[in-house]
Amino acid sequence: MALADDRKAAHAGSPPASDAAASVTTPPAEDTPQVAPATTTTTTMGDSGILPASHWQIDPPTERDIDDDDDDDDDGDSALGTVISSTTSLSSSILNYRNIHGRTFHSDIGKAEAWTPNDETQTESMDINHHLCTLITGGKLHLAPIPDDIKKAIDIGTGTGIWAIDFADEHPGTEVIGTDVSLIQPGWVPPNLSFEIDDANQPWTWDDDTFDYVHLRCMFGSISDWPALYREAFRVCKPGGWIEDHENSIKIDSDDGSVAEDSAMGQWTKVFWEGGKRFGRTFRVVEEDLQRKGMEAAGFVDIVVKDIKCPVGPWAKGELEKQLGLFAKLVLETDIEGYVLYMWSAVMGWTKEETQVYIAHLRRQLRDPNVHSWYMHRIVYARKPLTA
Ligand SMILES: C[S@@+](CC[C@H](N)C(=O)[O-])C[C@H]1O[C@@H](n2cnc3c(N)ncnc32)[C@H](O)[C@@H]1O
Repeated sequence: MALADDRKAAHAGSPPASDAAASVTTPPAEDTPQVAPATTTTTTMGDSGILPASHWQIDPPTERDIDDDDDDDDDGDSALGTVISSTTSLSSSILNYRNIHGRTFHSDIGKAEAWTPNDETQTESMDINHHLCTLITGGKLHLAPIPDDIKKAIDIGTGTGIWAIDFADEHPGTEVIGTDVSLIQPGWVPPNLSFEIDDANQPWTWDDDTFDYVHLRCMFGSISDWPALYREAFRVCKPGGWIEDHENSIKIDSDDGSVAEDSAMGQWTKVFWEGGKRFGRTFRVVEEDLQRKGMEAAGFVDIVVKDIKCPVGPWAKGELEKQLGLFAKLVLETDIEGYVLYMWSAVMGWTKEETQVYIAHLRRQLRDPNVHSWYMHRIVYARKPLTA
């Protein structure tokens, strides 16, 4: 697979670039389906470029497009049974979920505030995303050249723990810890894996030089201070140990203009960028090169940056690219409401109905074969110097 961008910073002698990443090519003009015309609108954009909620009421999608399966049951208990039964030893205060339009979000622990729900619909989407992420890496769980026999590894913001479970299986001699602020990890896991509740935005609770490998994935929109995050990772990493972070750009883009600025996908980017500013957790991790900059500032060396264009929908040429597109679309469709709800309703203040109509437009665009959308997936890994 080719890389859209494969840059190396820092030292010569860095590990060779992996061949395990995909690129996307927009189909040539003759077989490119007709690009959808830009939506006509009578509304104007504000400074942020965000169209008002009323914009989406023009030409609203049909009832069939609007998935309003929310039963309006605002008690938010649906996922609690499972969580409580598998985590009885943990403090009940952690189970104080917030509820937004019938979906549960974890309670605030310290500075933690998640923008995705912690219920079953969202965790299913997370697990599909794990499959997508491993397709992107050619089936590998890591690209950093870590030895097989490392003693200790940590996965920060482990989610359902699916990566940590696979990693622990693959490295039976390694003690693996997965952390999160939400109790959504299973009880039955490999014996060398444990989960801990820990807020990555607080000073980390581990001693200096503890881990051979620090792994993070898809923490965009969850971190209040990226340089501080990497400073903590540097501190707990052993000299000679590795850090690896896989992040997505939230920007849904196209090379042929099929994602118009005033389309649902174009607006998705703008709302996340503005919403991230408002709630103090940026979604511009890729755009601002925060992974590489933060690792470098923390003291990591041999930094390797890989950019992979991931199609959304099965439009791209190439078997792998089609697979990536199918799974990226499935990740979103599995819980499109879960990805939108917090930012549009809780941060931007749209009503439930306004948000649902926007979601219907987004779903319709996601299914449109004339739309050749993609987003950037960035993998960065680096080493802590032996002398640190
Ligand atoms: C998009 S999910 C990614 C899960 C996992 N890393 C993966 O790639 O499958 C983000 C996870 O980060 C967790 N999270 C959010 N804020 C956090 C924080 N401050 N500290 C630790 N975990 C956090 C969320 O609860 C959620 O499980």
